[in-house]
Amino acid sequence: MIEFTGVSKRYGDTVAVDSISLRVEAGEVCVLIGPSGCGKTTTLKMVNRMLNASSGVITIDGRDVASLPVEQLRRSIGYVIQSVGLLPHLSVRDNIAIVPRLNGVDRRTRYKRADELLDLIGLDPAQYRLKYPHELSGGEAQRIGVARALAADPPILLMDEPFGAVDPLNREVLQTEFLRLQRALKKTVMFVTHDLDEAIRIADTVILIKDGRIVQHATPEQILARPRDQFVRDFVGKDRALKRLSCFAVRDYIRQARQISQQDVAAYSNGEHDEEPVVWVNGPAGVLVGVLQRITAQSGAAALSAGARASFRMISLKPEDVGVAPMSSMKEALSRLLGQGMRAVPVLDERNCIIGEVRLPDIEELNQAVL
Ligand SMILES: Nc1ncnc2c1ncn2[C@@H]1O[C@H](COP(=O)(O)OP(=O)(O)OP(=O)(O)O)[C@@H](O)[C@H]1O
Ligand SMILES: [Mg+2]
Repeated sequence: MIEFTGVSKRYGDTVAVDSISLRVEAGEVCVLIGPSGCGKTTTLKMVNRMLNASSGVITIDGRDVASLPVEQLRRSIGYVIQSVGLLPHLSVRDNIAIVPRLNGVDRRTRYKRADELLDLIGLDPAQYRLKYPHELSGGEAQRIGVARALAADPPILLMDEPFGAVDPLNREVLQTEFLRLQRALKKTVMFVTHDLDEAIRIADTVILIKDGRIVQHATPEQILARPRDQFVRDFVGKDRALKRLSCFAVRDYIRQARQISQQDVAAYSNGEHDEEPVVWVNGPAGVLVGVLQRITAQSGAAALSAGARASFRMISLKPEDVGVAPMSSMKEALSRLLGQGMRAVPVLDERNCIIGEVRLPDIEELNQAVL
């Protein structure tokens, strides 16, 4: 657990951090966000004493960081910086193993550790261990930066805009990977970003900072639903209702889906159906292949004739275009739904078989809480 009590940092007359108090629980991802120059990096750097606080106390598990020897302190804290900071003349594995080397770990052990970490971050050790930084893409270099911070297995990670230099698409890949890693490793993380979507995606709690002070410290969902003041409201933007949908996972809103197999389409079409549920159609091996659509009678006379039956035809669907996974966010479900112009989205397993569906009224209800 990391705790700040009345911590300030002054540079002459400039107050970079102004008496902040906060707590980051063990295993939590705490995201610091706010305008440029508000004091995020300064806050982070005081934890491992790359900067010393001007006043106030920072403790880690109850121990004042000012009282710990700096080397011992930094050994328990991994630090990832925005510019990655890989050493150009060292291979990937030597970059990753740099802290273990400083700690006197023998070569065999630290190279083994470097390979393990490459595996962990999703890069093939055989292919990457001997590469040099200039042979890496931006995203790969960022991953190596994360691996290096993890090399000594520290319980705490400080990450200063670790994915800031990566294009939006690759950034999402890195965020997903970070979440997967974090689920397994459960580090205590302080993470700085400019990107609200990134904060919403990865944070357990978000700290919004302005002029060196904490404006709001809450879960992403709370910040979006109940911004404390106009500054927060402006910061999170007009589409906060939509953004807030990213905080909810599809798996919590799955409803039973009506589904029939492809052979039964004709029989279904001839049956009596009062209400109009969404009916999904499964092909061989239960894989989603389409959805039924009601064919409305063309002429008024036909529509009026007594006992007229609805008839249906199947519209073909590509599961990967229409479906969402249980892990997807409700925001993704909504964008799929709007993209397809349907009232429900199928929730699919890895084989593209239907688990259930997410319905528009459920998404609308979630949004009502904000509007
Ligand atoms: N060495 C320094 N001397 C004087 N002022 C400094 C120094 N370092 C930072 N500052 C000032 O402290 C304030 C906070 O800086 P900090 O780097 O923490 O901001 P930040 O929130 O990380 O910004 P960004 O999002 O641009 O990285 C800024 O006003 C900055 O100009
Ligand atoms: Mg900064």
